[in-house]
Parts: sequence; C-alpha cells; structure tokens
Amino acid sequence: MPMNIAIDGPVGAGKSSIADAVAGKLGILHLDTGAMYRALALYALRSGVELTDEAAVSACCAQADIAVGYADGRQRTLLSGEDVSDLIRTGEVSAAASVVSKWPAVRERMVALQQELARKGNMLIDGRDIGTVVLADSPCKIYLTASAEERARRRYLQNLEKGDNTPFEDVLAALNARDAQDMGRAVSPLRQAEDAVLVDSTDMTREEVVDAIVRIVEGIYGKQ
Ligand code: DC
Repeated sequence: MPMNIAIDGPVGAGKSSIADAVAGKLGILHLDTGAMYRALALYALRSGVELTDEAAVSACCAQADIAVGYADGRQRTLLSGEDVSDLIRTGEVSAAASVVSKWPAVRERMVALQQELARKGNMLIDGRDIGTVVLADSPCKIYLTASAEERARRRYLQNLEKGDNTPFEDVLAALNARDAQDMGRAVSPLRQAEDAVLVDSTDMTREEVVDAIVRIVEGIYGKQ
C-alpha cells in the first residue's frame, strides 16, 4: 500500500515545518500544496488581474505553468520554469493566495496536479483540503491546529527574527482574516475530515508534535 499522509490545518499551525520534519523521519517526500496556490497568486499579481474577478483568475490559472520539483529532498516550486520558492513567502502573496484559492477552477486544477504527484509514490501532503478532497481515501489524516493567539504569537516571533516588526495585534488580525477566508469559502473550506486525528499543538513543543504525528503514522502504516 503506498504511504499517503494528509495533514491539514489553519495558517500558522506549523504544518509546513512539522510536515518537513515528519517526512524526513519517514524518508518520504513532502508536498506543500500552499506553495502551489501561492505560485498562482504570484502569477496573478504579476499579470495585474483583479483577484476577486473569478473569470480573470480562472483564465490565469489555465495559462499558468506551475510545477513542483525536488532538490536534495526539498520542494522547489516553479512558475514557468522560474524557481519562485522564496518569492512566494511575502505577506502580499499570502493574502493573494487566500483569495485566488477560493475559485472553483483554481481548486480543480491544483487538486488534479496534486493527485498526479501523489500517485507517483509515497508522499506526505499538507494543505487545507488534503484529508477532505485530495487524499480523501487515505487511511492516514491529521488535523494540526493551535489556538489563534498561539499561532499569531509564533508568527509574530518568526517575523521579528526576519526583522519584521509588525505589531502582534496586526499579526493576529491578519491570521483571523485568513482563517475566516479559508474556513468560510464555498468550495472545499478548511475543516477537519471526519476520520482525521486532531493534534492540538497549543501547549506542545515542535519535537512533541513531530513525535506524536510519527506515532500516528506508524500506528496506521506500521513502523518505518
Ligand atoms: O499553507 P499556506 O499558507 O502556504 O497556503 C496559502 C493559501 O493557499 C491559504 O490561504 C489557503 C490556500 N490553500 C488552499 O486553499 N488549499 C490548500 N490545499 C493549500 C493552501
């Protein structure tokens, strides 16, 4: 049985970094699907389309050449062959990704790309709709969350390290806005799949979360 692991959760729950560590321990690839929506958002921003214009964004999505590759086991996200892995980490792209990802044509294309990648082999995939849509048949689903205050606190501290002094209240407000957008959209809103295991990391260290998830995976697929 191929090992497919779904990890979903809200912004700032640490999904990407935890998923990287878990995939590393299990010796499998990690697909960060948010990076794909971000690459499309960058394409739409560069094209100058109105992000709230469903037809224009859908047309952008049909044109955009988005691909994922791996270098030394780490994901590189490509837009028309350009490695945009770092460029897609700005606040502007984050906010734009949250908007473009609500359009059905966008979701349809991204889900198809992600399922194609998942078919190629063992993979841990993180996002918002992985347990509910992309890997709906997977026996191994995790919903990783933490309180909004704790997620904002972590993001605030990460920002400070990068020299970004955005006040905590503003970080919390942006996070609440993205939660509302991701959980409130009509198509594939973020929610815990009925058969997903909940991991609430509010009072856990990163290592505790990684170990807890590895134990859940091994409980399903056996010791790796
Ligand atoms: O995980 P992230 O913050 O990089 O995701 C960026 C945006 O993309 C996020 O606001 C929601 C959207 N997204 C999505 O709708 N479905 C996914 N599977 C992954 C991300």
